[in-house]
Amino acid sequence: MGLQTTPKRLSSRFFYDAEGSRLFQEIMHAPEYYLTRSEYEILNTYKEDFLKQFTPDGRPFELVELGAGDGLKTKILLGFFADKNANFAYTPVDISVDALEDLVVDVRQKWPDLRLNPRHDDYFNALQQLSEESDARRVVLFLGSNIGNFTPDAALDFYQQLHDRLQPGDLVLTGFDLQKHPAIIHAAYNDQQGLTRAFNLNLLRRINRELDADFNLSAFDHYEVYNPETGEARSYLVSQKAQTVQIGALDMKVSFEYGEIIHTEISRKFTRAQIENLAQQAGFSLIGWFTDSNGYFADVVFER
Ligand code: AVI
Repeated sequence: MGLQTTPKRLSSRFFYDAEGSRLFQEIMHAPEYYLTRSEYEILNTYKEDFLKQFTPDGRPFELVELGAGDGLKTKILLGFFADKNANFAYTPVDISVDALEDLVVDVRQKWPDLRLNPRHDDYFNALQQLSEESDARRVVLFLGSNIGNFTPDAALDFYQQLHDRLQPGDLVLTGFDLQKHPAIIHAAYNDQQGLTRAFNLNLLRRINRELDADFNLSAFDHYEVYNPETGEARSYLVSQKAQTVQIGALDMKVSFEYGEIIHTEISRKFTRAQIENLAQQAGFSLIGWFTDSNGYFADVVFER
């Protein structure tokens, strides 16, 4: 556990217990969190163009969505593709059981005939499963700027792994949050309602519950900073006093100094040049670039 390193760290993967997933749903509706609205607009505006890109030759396709969440945005595509009688299957993958169950119930109810293969898994295990041969064109969806939560090395490694597992002609559609006025990004991670703050602090609540720890949540604060030079928004929890926390299940004591931080998340913002470079380094061709009317967000199609 990263609480014994300097600086202290907790992986953002641990945000998504039931309460964390619920808080993230609320964040996606917060007025400052422009990412979800922007991507929703893109998918809605260009759904026909996406369908053309996914079916250049009429072959069936399999939409494999990594980190599907509540699938709110994907449902725009599912509904449109179903209306057009497209020949496709939907494979949502998520680490949150709760989010996945809700999604499955809703999709089954809306489109009873849709071929649906949900998987409760993390991205990397799900990628392993892609190695099996398939007649259908794989279209991997990685929406919502989930890629922004990877370090640069991990992002490149992710696309290289995808490249290894996909066949020529398979596609990857990624949602990238673009660099913009730093104040807009700063506000998205410091919302007025305190949702991001609660989301970040929920990590400590989860450790208390699952690892028998005694973090006092009111003795920690949420701090998020965006650096326009690196394009990184970084989240921290800050100890508001010198304190020692016990983690019973690990038989561990963790001491904090006043002002000491735990780094919990990185949310990277990209330039077009960085995205082109990523595609090229991993061996993909960039064949589609779609942005919202503000130019805040891009949904980008890479071809294997
Ligand atoms: C899931 N991920 C893309 C979100 C983001 O914007 O990095 C998670 C999040 N963290 C704080 N607010 C939302």
